[in-house]
Amino acid sequence: MWSERPILGIETSCDDTCAAVVTPAGEIASNVISSQARFHDRYGGVVPEVASRHHLELINAVVENALQDAGVELCDLAAVAVTSGPGLIGALLIGLSAAKALAASNSLPFVAVDHLQGHVAANFLQPDPTEPPFLCLIASGGHTLLAQVEDHRGYRNLGETRDDAAGEALDKAARLIGLSYPGGAELDRLSRDGDPAAFPFPVGMKRADSLDFSFSGLKTAFAYKVRELGPEEARRRKADLAASFQRAVVTSLVEKVEQALDQTPVGKLAIGGGVAANSELRERLTALCERRGLELKVPPRELCTDNAAMIASAARYLEPVEHPRYLDFDAFARHAA
Ligand code: KG4
Ligand code: ZN
Repeated sequence: MWSERPILGIETSCDDTCAAVVTPAGEIASNVISSQARFHDRYGGVVPEVASRHHLELINAVVENALQDAGVELCDLAAVAVTSGPGLIGALLIGLSAAKALAASNSLPFVAVDHLQGHVAANFLQPDPTEPPFLCLIASGGHTLLAQVEDHRGYRNLGETRDDAAGEALDKAARLIGLSYPGGAELDRLSRDGDPAAFPFPVGMKRADSLDFSFSGLKTAFAYKVRELGPEEARRRKADLAASFQRAVVTSLVEKVEQALDQTPVGKLAIGGGVAANSELRERLTALCERRGLELKVPPRELCTDNAAMIASAARYLEPVEHPRYLDFDAFARHAA
């Protein structure tokens, strides 16, 4: 469907301003990510208004860098692709408006991409593309989803979180024991010195038939435990608290993956999202895949976390919309129920 021209992808659904150029064959010609984490650190989480303002300030430079790194100009492109949702509505609108303006002013076709389909499509990029069918676990600061991927164009939602995302829960727990935002990676490091059995925290949705996740009960149990221990003791047992909390989050993710594999057997498991970097999750999924004879695919870290190469990758398989039929396209914060 595509000519040999590359696609420009734009992603601004949360707190990373991203642009990338990807060829029709899935080679990454450039992949620029400007993280705003340092601006949100002092608030202990992403502040939507702050994110929107930074996207607005950064988007033109980030797009320009992506084009320059790839050695292409707008007139060389096959299309402009952008995340239209789900995510923070103000943040999404900055990327969407920029993408529409860039496409329209060059009479280019346009592709609106679902952010989660983008995470799935990170697996289709070179140099090590994974072919469907596979099961895909996406766990990040914004989402926790089990996707059944049958082809390149979409996925079936097998289950998702009913409240907090896995990364969000890890970040909130990390904050309660004094780690800076986003605390998932530091909690991971700290856990290596702790006893994961020190505090038996509850695993959400453990006995449910559903493949949905829940982390809010766990988060509350953690907050109560920290309060019960008191500041002195909580500080002293920080590593035990971290290891026990991480154990509960990872167990919840791994058990739902197992449950999904029992229901719908496939030969491959892919993981994405920032939490895919977690060492305990990787170890346990590696063991699970060895036990079941499955192939485990973990894209490189910069393709697991939010990026625009995955958005351009997803766009390769979607129908482009010709100019000017996309001018009234809108962003959406959530998937329709
Ligand atoms: O995909 P991502 O960069 O985008 C957002 O959702 O914004 O994911 C970020 C999440 C954060 O919650 C962060 O704490 C978590 O990924 N994370 C980790 C690790 N590295 C990053 N969680 C657990 N273990 C890690 N090593
Ligand atoms: Zn994401």
